[in-house]
Amino acid sequence: MITHDLVVVGAGLAGLRAAKEAKKSIDDVAIISKVHPLRSHSVAAQGGINAALGGTDSPDAHIRDTIKGSDYLADQDGVEILCRDAPGAVLELDRLGALFSRTESGKIAQRPFGGAGFPRTCYSADKTGHMLLHTLFEQVIKDGIEIYREWYVTSLIMWGGKCRGVVALDIKSGELHTITARAVVLATGGYGRVYSRSTNALINTGDGIAIAYRAGSPLKDMEFVQFHPTTLFGTNILITEGARGEGGYLVNRHGERFMKRYAPGQMELAPRDIVARAIVTELKEGRGYGKGSEDGYVHLDLRHLGAEKIKERLPQIREIAMNFAGIDPITEPIPVQPGQHYSMGGIATDTSGATSIEGLYAAGECACVSVHGANRLGGNSLLDTLVFGKIAGAAAAKYASKMPMPAPGDGNDNNNALQNDKSRIDAILKGVDGGEGGEGGGDGGEDGGVRLSVIVQKMRQTMLSNVGIFRTREGLENAVKDIKKLKDMYRNISIDDRDRVFNTELVQALELGCMLDLAHTIAAGALAREESRGSHYRLDFPKRDDRTWLKHTMAYFTKDGPGLEYEDVRITKYRPDGRVY
Ligand code: FUM
Repeated sequence: MITHDLVVVGAGLAGLRAAKEAKKSIDDVAIISKVHPLRSHSVAAQGGINAALGGTDSPDAHIRDTIKGSDYLADQDGVEILCRDAPGAVLELDRLGALFSRTESGKIAQRPFGGAGFPRTCYSADKTGHMLLHTLFEQVIKDGIEIYREWYVTSLIMWGGKCRGVVALDIKSGELHTITARAVVLATGGYGRVYSRSTNALINTGDGIAIAYRAGSPLKDMEFVQFHPTTLFGTNILITEGARGEGGYLVNRHGERFMKRYAPGQMELAPRDIVARAIVTELKEGRGYGKGSEDGYVHLDLRHLGAEKIKERLPQIREIAMNFAGIDPITEPIPVQPGQHYSMGGIATDTSGATSIEGLYAAGECACVSVHGANRLGGNSLLDTLVFGKIAGAAAAKYASKMPMPAPGDGNDNNNALQNDKSRIDAILKGVDGGEGGEGGGDGGEDGGVRLSVIVQKMRQTMLSNVGIFRTREGLENAVKDIKKLKDMYRNISIDDRDRVFNTELVQALELGCMLDLAHTIAAGALAREESRGSHYRLDFPKRDDRTWLKHTMAYFTKDGPGLEYEDVRITKYRPDGRVY
């Protein structure tokens, strides 16, 4: 059995920042990550990180923009912390050596982003996440924090209702281990791969969110799913909002800047939910390119910015467009369509990162503080990872320093957690008889079970078609029905690789179990919420309804699917108001 004082699961920005902070007060901090830290999805963040660094901007203006952007669902105490700590978080990374783009006078450069009243987004060309992740990774190495690379956490160890470690699979050897700890921080990122069109890395399968949910932690506001307006048509690779921040236009096939119909004040820099809906409306009404339906695209035109600016500020976007679409944005517009990008919902935490399970903390995209409410503003995600990663790391370390180390057999159920996961893995590796696909069915594995890829594709398709940008009761009911059926099929899952050593197909099967649980919470929450707010748009309930729905959805795990309860939104001083841009 392995033991550490504090275990951080996930090595993206939130996890690295949490570990670094915890290490200041306790010595024995370890990070567990299913990939090498530099392959964490934070590396893909492009456009920047928000902070009111002075001039005519202020943390108060940042708070107001964030709350309005959230369609008034964000908990305002959390937003105040996020925005007031923002300048310190950015300047700290600057001092640690992060290479921010600079103005002529040497200050950190800032660009306009959606839903913001000021150019507030600090950036490193269009590779901001890459730059921040490398900077923090160096720090974690310097601090001597132990990292378990390519270890996949399968469940939490619970001891008398408290979290006291994790069970983890060493992917390389195929061995399962218990890792006991006085406290655990989850920083495992989002679940984007639940959807068929996503900017997210293949690793974003919501594992941490699912294991916390299964252990009894409620998930908050899972129905709020962000679709980024501009992803590259065909591959859905992110095309940063920074491209519009630098002055890019969105145009339909009539050459018209259509955002004037949807957000005449902020045009292309309206919040993401509004821009994504505008694009899909253009497509549905036949003013897009491609198939003349939601599956088509509009153009992101950067040509007027000129070669010099594109090369200096958006070099990666140019590379992506050239490599993946054969288009040079200096001379041609980029075909774009919305794609799933971010989860506003996640593991419910308070503003210290504490979850409802004693000893368990969460930070970053897997957590819901909630500072993004029903719609996150671009540039607030990297900020969330640094601010709440630091806070959660400090809080978890403080808690861990007061707790005894769990001892085997001392009233804990370590062995059960390990044994349960072992049985689960053995069952997948052994295969099944008489599964759905079967011979000739096309869906079947060699053993008559259902192929992993079949379930994955069906889940992603129903989520995109029925739980996407525009939603209806009928579509959501279909999604819930589909997910229940897919969960049944999952019981008979079939994989081809039956070896234990470096079995990535086995890991994918475990990830799929997590995604199905989360897909269920997203669809069920969306079906129940009979209003439109931020990213959740119900064609059958097109208005925001504060009287009934100014509240958070809390999804609790039951064996039959999520049980939904509701909690009040924490409002400090910003009363819900209209949301016009
Ligand atoms: O468009 C982007 O660069 C993404 C930024 C974000 O999600 O915050």
